[in-house]
Amino acid sequence: MKSLRGMRDILFEESERFNFIIDTASKVAKRYGFEYIETPLLEETALFKRSVGESSDIVGKEMYQFIDKGGNDVCLRPEGTAGVVRAFIQNRLDRQQRDFKFFYYGPMFRYERPQKGRLREFHQFGVESFGEARVEEDFFIILMVRDIFDELGVGYKIKINSLGCSECMPKYRESLIKSLEEIREGLCQDCQRRISTNPIRVLDCKNSSCQELLKDAPKITDNLCQECNRDFKRLKSLLDSANIEYEVDKNLVRGLDYYTKSAFEFVSDEVGAQSAIAGGGRYDRLVEFLGGKKTPAVGFALGIERILELVKLPEKNREGYYLGAMVEDGLSEIIKLAQKLRKNEKVKIEYLPKSLKAHLKGADRVGAKYALIIGEDELKAGKVWIKDLESKSESIKSIEEIA
Ligand code: HAM
Repeated sequence: MKSLRGMRDILFEESERFNFIIDTASKVAKRYGFEYIETPLLEETALFKRSVGESSDIVGKEMYQFIDKGGNDVCLRPEGTAGVVRAFIQNRLDRQQRDFKFFYYGPMFRYERPQKGRLREFHQFGVESFGEARVEEDFFIILMVRDIFDELGVGYKIKINSLGCSECMPKYRESLIKSLEEIREGLCQDCQRRISTNPIRVLDCKNSSCQELLKDAPKITDNLCQECNRDFKRLKSLLDSANIEYEVDKNLVRGLDYYTKSAFEFVSDEVGAQSAIAGGGRYDRLVEFLGGKKTPAVGFALGIERILELVKLPEKNREGYYLGAMVEDGLSEIIKLAQKLRKNEKVKIEYLPKSLKAHLKGADRVGAKYALIIGEDELKAGKVWIKDLESKSESIKSIEEIA
């Protein structure tokens, strides 16, 4: 049997890097005042339809959706934001007059065509900040992503855009549709379909002949209302004054429908065609749209698998103990000793009696700091032979002394 297509095991060195990414990102998020939240992997399908959007590829084509034994229409989460917003409303946090900041990580599921960097089960680390309407919060979210990638040693480029609000977006949408209708014939099938379902997504079509035709299409950043324009300017000036390089990408629209105002992506040219390593933005209407009290919000998520190969683990020091006996009778002593040491230390036990050379090889393989070996002489004397594998010094101590 094999794992399903687009789903994979993570083990050995890779799993260490996987955990290192989560630990590093969690540490940075805590510095920015975020707290851990855990939400279910399975949610009502309607939650994603309403938040991510019926016309998005994620909802339209990629959901792991089924009817459970109770007849409920459910779905494995394709992303983290919707569930966190649901939890925010369900726990009545929208009724409190304060901000809430959450971080999370875990598996997400999208039935996509698998390729390098694109899986059907993948893992995200993400954050959601509720209750802060000011664009300064968007700035700090971008800064936090930068800090995470800097600490992990991952290179990136930042792209930003503004997607407007309920005042300017509908007007812009109308004028975009009008201009898309004029070039309809030359656009690809997907784009033609999107003119009526999701015209904004036409802008980020990967097809170069579509992009050529789209050159003269109106851009949202040239059609922002006063408030959105002010916020976008402010975001750029905050990034400038922090010496953060970015590119304004007028075609950056994101694949999820809930965004308003700031949208951003971190891309890497070291990870292949799927270059987006993180994405996010503001979604000021979503809480209200899902039945909560109107609450501004902004967040991001990064794809752990996309950066797994780029992350280098910090140098590891030797740690813990390797315990072995050279004679069968020594094993009982080893077992007693291990129980005591394991209260505080990492311990590897070798159950089989082996030569000293074989034990030292085993100790080296597990990266132990000390090898504790009981041979025939040591057993008779109630002692243990110890080698410090860092300093290479050797000694003999009584079993009681060590325990
Ligand atoms: P997203 O852009 O759909 O945003 O996903 C975020 C990141 O997840 C991507 O930049 C990418 O690194 C990774 N990713 C997405 N799909 C796959 C896949 N099939 N295989 C591997 N990695 C993938 C969101 O999900 C939003 N919820 C982010 C957000 C949070 N916005 C506001 N708050």
